[in-house]
Amino acid sequence: MDTKTTVIAPSALAAQFACCDRISAYWHSAGRTPTAYVETYGCQQNEADSEKLRGYLAQCGYTMVPDAEGADVVVMNTCAIREHAEQQVFGNLGALTHTKRRHPEQKIFLCGCMAGEPQTAQRIQKSYPYVDGVFSTHHLWQFPEILWNVLHQGTRQFYIADEPGSIAEGIPQLRDSTLKSWVSIMYGCNNFCTYCIVPYVRGRERSRKKADILAECRSLIESGCKEITLLGQNVNSYGKDLPGNGDFSDLLADIAAIDGDFWIRFMTSHPRDAGKKLFDTMASSPKIAKQLHLPFQSGSSRVLKAMNRHYDREGYLALVDYAKSVMPQLVLTSDVIVGFPGETESEFEETVSLIRQVHYDSLFTFIFSPRAGTPAASMDDPTPKAEKSRRFDRLCTVQNEISQQIHSGYIGQTLRCLVDGCENGLLTARTEGGRLVRLPGDPASIGSFAPITITGATTWSLTGQFAETEE
Ligand code: SAH
Ligand code: SF4
Ligand code: F3S
Repeated sequence: MDTKTTVIAPSALAAQFACCDRISAYWHSAGRTPTAYVETYGCQQNEADSEKLRGYLAQCGYTMVPDAEGADVVVMNTCAIREHAEQQVFGNLGALTHTKRRHPEQKIFLCGCMAGEPQTAQRIQKSYPYVDGVFSTHHLWQFPEILWNVLHQGTRQFYIADEPGSIAEGIPQLRDSTLKSWVSIMYGCNNFCTYCIVPYVRGRERSRKKADILAECRSLIESGCKEITLLGQNVNSYGKDLPGNGDFSDLLADIAAIDGDFWIRFMTSHPRDAGKKLFDTMASSPKIAKQLHLPFQSGSSRVLKAMNRHYDREGYLALVDYAKSVMPQLVLTSDVIVGFPGETESEFEETVSLIRQVHYDSLFTFIFSPRAGTPAASMDDPTPKAEKSRRFDRLCTVQNEISQQIHSGYIGQTLRCLVDGCENGLLTARTEGGRLVRLPGDPASIGSFAPITITGATTWSLTGQFAETEE
């Protein structure tokens, strides 16, 4: 497997900035400020990529608008993880024929994980003639060039060549929030879980240099950021491709050593590579939030093997036991797939018993969705859809009871929270474990840490009030 990482040369990036200047001059001579709309599907990696797309667009002179109607540029940053995600994109893409009819100069782009699937690019090429450009995640750094070619040459652009993957440092980012920031620490995935499309569309694992990540974190904290979430498909294998750079735990400790009052979160941890060093590092610093998203996918060791997950039920449970022993207040969340090809009723029951045993705060539950080109898509799958839905509903019912029970346990506790927004007349805040709290209060407190007493709980969120003595 080719694991050599290509770092995009500064001169190649400078050529992109030159395209931004040309686009900006183009609009200047047209005498108006152009507008752009970026729609994001899927996970936090895509959210982070959209901040780069918006950064580039801002550099080209575009102002962001909240919907596609009338926008000069529309970018659909897509997700390919399940069939449902793709259907949603195709549906919304279809609706853009109308926005484009009303505004014929509108330029429409599709990028993200679906753009990395050869069949999607072909379908767009043939059946969606009003889409002006398609580019996979490997080509995001070339977006200004793609946009310029569309504007200047008036031809459709397809930047979809498959590549092992590269790293581009220095793409401008227009961040959604100054308070909470995503920081990608690595890209791609080498794990090839048999159900998953990600390694095919995002390429091989590659880590950013620690010095670049630390510089980004420092600058975010200096400009008022209070919560940094480190992103990667498997953050625990961070640094394996960079000799002498240190591992993920070292990186966490170095970020925690930066001056300032802030929380660090991260996702996603793969149980295969998570271990004592990580949990000890988390336990050692108050800046590292005691929150862990540790997907288990199935409670059956046979299914885990068929998924190519490289751990078994006992190994997973031992990991969780250790993590809880060094962080008793740990908030634990996870992902699980029901109806993997060949999953039997008793294997499904092993999943139910695992969630009862671990007691997750919350769970992301998915029904297996076959993805073209992955090994699981061609495995024998005799379980009827209706049976999979029944298993899914049962799992959700069990988990909802657990979440409700854990949330009720918060009532009466006073927790340090980050007040992060205002919605429907109430403030929103997050506990260290990432639980949502709604409370009355002055929006002036947004952006500060404060002790909040929890007064009520539902399955999904908590309610509270500021504690008597504020920080
Ligand atoms: N890198 C992360 C997960 C990224 S995808 C990890 O390994 O934990 C997020 C979740 O989507 C996965 O954890 C899995 O539960 C789910 N998922 C991925 N492929 C899927 C598929 N083909 N069908 C159903 N769920 C899937
Ligand atoms: Fe997909 Fe597995 Fe990689 Fe996660 S670790 S992105 S589930 S292949
Ligand atoms: Fe979807 Fe791609 Fe993320 S497939 S879940 S957007 S890595």
